[in-house]
Amino acid sequence: MDLYEHEARALFEERGIPVPRAEVTDSPQEARVMARRLGGSVVVKAQVKTGGRGKAGGVRLATDPAEAERTARRILGKDIKGHPVRKVMLAQPVDIESEFYVAYVLDRAAGRFLAIASAEGGTDIEEVAAVRPEAVARIPVDPAEGVTSAKAGEIAEAAGLPPQTVDVLVRLWEVLVGQDAVLVEVNPLVRTRQGHILALDGKVTLDDNARFRQSRWGAETIAHDDPLEAAAAAKGLNYVKLDGEVGVIGNGAGLVMSTLDVVAGCGARPANFLDIGGGASAQVMADGLTVILSDPAVKSVFVNVFGGITACDAVADGIVRALDEVRLTKPLVVRLDGNNASRGRAVLDERAHPLVQQATTMDGAVRRAAELANAG
Ligand SMILES: Nc1ncnc2c1ncn2[C@@H]1O[C@H](COP(=O)(O)OP(=O)(O)OP(=O)(O)O)[C@@H](O)[C@H]1O
Ligand SMILES: [Mg+2]
Repeated sequence: MDLYEHEARALFEERGIPVPRAEVTDSPQEARVMARRLGGSVVVKAQVKTGGRGKAGGVRLATDPAEAERTARRILGKDIKGHPVRKVMLAQPVDIESEFYVAYVLDRAAGRFLAIASAEGGTDIEEVAAVRPEAVARIPVDPAEGVTSAKAGEIAEAAGLPPQTVDVLVRLWEVLVGQDAVLVEVNPLVRTRQGHILALDGKVTLDDNARFRQSRWGAETIAHDDPLEAAAAAKGLNYVKLDGEVGVIGNGAGLVMSTLDVVAGCGARPANFLDIGGGASAQVMADGLTVILSDPAVKSVFVNVFGGITACDAVADGIVRALDEVRLTKPLVVRLDGNNASRGRAVLDERAHPLVQQATTMDGAVRRAAELANAG
């Protein structure tokens, strides 16, 4: 799970990493009061869990409290890459001399962490990494040894960061370990004209497998994320939101993953995916379809079921039940194969809904769903 910038900022502050003074709100009027408290001029920042907020107009300087209110109102109405802005953070502006990039990220393949750092941080770090990879230092970190002052010195030197960043590098590692995080990123870490080092932006990704021992970020943190993910989780469904147009429902992680690949291979992009799991009942199918259809980005839905433990006629019953519960406004392509497939197909044939089509092969079904998504 990703944390919001303001949550990451709170963790940094607790570990003694210098951050600008800041407050969070969902109200433009309150933003005006906060700006006054923070000294008048503030940077208003959209709190959404996606990168590139600045370039999308989600980070703006307001020079007085009245402007802070107007700016907050404008940013709170925004949608940044499919993420509605529900809160803004107001931060004291700092006088930046230089911007750096620092991150610790889990390197699963190598079984250790990687420190990534650059003296050329800021909003164009992706371009720096692509065009001049030598400007980005990558230093392996052994999780058992961690980031000592000596290790931090090595990272800072390799990246060309000033020596004052060493202390921050050690404390960032402490944040990572303390939170069971798989990613801690600061972009930018800045040096001000007054010579202070400050973390101006933060991203922290927690290890979901460690959630049982991290009670701090509870259900409300997750619920705030994506209302559909929260609705799906409440029904015990495994639903993940993606950026495309084709809704994907399948049974079993392997089939769902390969379905996503095939959708991409047909020139379409999955909007989301939902794994109804093995032995799924009609109710699970109906719940799943309801969730997928409520995603406004979905233009067509592909239901791909290979019946093993799950019987295809139960899936078909679920689809029929969902058709009674929700008004289908988007085309549905269904491919049923395996256990009780012919009975399942017969159930759908009998219902004969104009927006439901059946296909016998996965490739054929995906092509159809992609065509429908591109046409819609
Ligand atoms: N408190 C601040 N004072 C002055 N400038 C700031 C402040 N916060 C952010 N900025 C400027 O705005 C830029 C973008 O801010 P930030 O990195 O928080 O947003 P971002 O666009 O989300 O970045 P990312 O692409 O990493 O998500 C920073 O690189 C910095 O130059
Ligand atoms: Mg940033």
